[in-house]
Amino acid sequence: MGTAKLILDGQEYELPTVVGSEGEVGIDISKLRSLSRAITVDSGYGNTGSCHSAITFINGEQGILRYRGYPIEQLAEHASFSEVCYLLIYGALPNRQQLEDFNEGLTYHSMLHEDMKKLFEGYPPNAHPMAILSSMVTSLATYYPNAMQEDRIDLNILRLLSKATTIASLSYKKSIGQPFIYPRNDLSYTENFLHMMFAVPAEPYEINPVRERALNLLLILHADHEQNCSTSTVRMVGSSQANLYASIAAGISALWGPLHGGANQKVIEMLQMIHEDGDNYQKYVDMAKDKSSGFRLMGFGHRVYKNFDPRARILKKAADEVLEDLGVNDPLLDIARNLEQVALEDEFFVKRKLYPNVDFYSGIIYSAMTIPTNMFTVMFALGRLPGWIAQWKEMREDPKTRINRPRQIYTGPKERAYEPIEDR
Ligand code: CMC
Repeated sequence: MGTAKLILDGQEYELPTVVGSEGEVGIDISKLRSLSRAITVDSGYGNTGSCHSAITFINGEQGILRYRGYPIEQLAEHASFSEVCYLLIYGALPNRQQLEDFNEGLTYHSMLHEDMKKLFEGYPPNAHPMAILSSMVTSLATYYPNAMQEDRIDLNILRLLSKATTIASLSYKKSIGQPFIYPRNDLSYTENFLHMMFAVPAEPYEINPVRERALNLLLILHADHEQNCSTSTVRMVGSSQANLYASIAAGISALWGPLHGGANQKVIEMLQMIHEDGDNYQKYVDMAKDKSSGFRLMGFGHRVYKNFDPRARILKKAADEVLEDLGVNDPLLDIARNLEQVALEDEFFVKRKLYPNVDFYSGIIYSAMTIPTNMFTVMFALGRLPGWIAQWKEMREDPKTRINRPRQIYTGPKERAYEPIEDR
């Protein structure tokens, strides 16, 4: 363990340092306030390590992403989503028997309690599926009140992973006024989701293997991303010992915002807008450079990646392949390619190290799979579930965990006397 020295108003303080397994160094300031009365300030937490974690490693300068040490490129090429869920949550790739048991659990917990259907009925027809997903995941806590019992955690993890796909697809069926489709036990996790989304009672539904593979890939690429906004929210809520369902529902709400998971919906809306404006992408690049316009290129930029987002690289290639395999010709793909080209050569974007992120091409693939635009962020949430669960579990099991409670620099008025209303 090394040390860092801090000189504050002439007084010197020694602070211990911590080093991660990939060599990144942190200065442990946990005792700073009791030693010096000073706190650190880091708006947006861009320079703050909130925990020790052995789940996901990112090197933003080099475009590296690994889950439990495995490069994302290898997992994307070889693994199934349920294998990745197991890896993230339990720390190692499952052997054949472990994977079979895990998949069986995912299959047999996919049904919702029939009473939950009444909750769906209460929403207006155009309710955003992210609002439904978040509320329904919280509602699961009412059906499984013993979720926090130590010997039931694994069971409830399976329930959550499995029932989330049922909730997501029912929220879609509800939005288009079609009857709910029940899960089938003979289908895999990803097949079952497609079946519940797209089957109709009147005719048999055949799962298209290209769609299923694309779904598997998209879910894997979204499965974890260390301490991002929604994951930090899950840990924050979980640190108060709120239950699993409530903590994950909070993460779903955080993900919904357009600067986070909501960006995938915004990207397609932006590309559509450019298309309707005569494919004039240069105009939108110029607008994004003009701060007064308030416009940003959605799907561009990242807090951590400053070279390229490895997930975006994989998805760009996949978008070409999936659209070709499905025989889809989407003009938005050409606009996205051109926009990327122009932005990557523009000094504004080069200087700020702004590159396409995971959300830039994902929406084009979802559209080709006929997943509607307002479901894109729900798809992100389904993918991110194992990451949230793994991080929640790690937080719970870490003896160093305390309730999360940042401090602040107060900038409001000093003490003043209450003024009677007639004097104001
Ligand atoms: N278009 C135009 N300018 C941008 C963009 C953009 N998409 N992103 C950042 N900038 C500029 C920004 O104006 C600032 O310029 P300056 O230094 O002159 O003030 C500089 O680049 C740094 O931006 P920032 O907002 O300080 O960076 P941040 O790390 O706080 O924000 C971000 C990261 C992802 C929220 C931001 O890049 C953004 O708003 N991107 C668009 C939304 C988006 O695609 N979000 C999905 C993120 S990836 C999936 C996920 O993790 O959820």
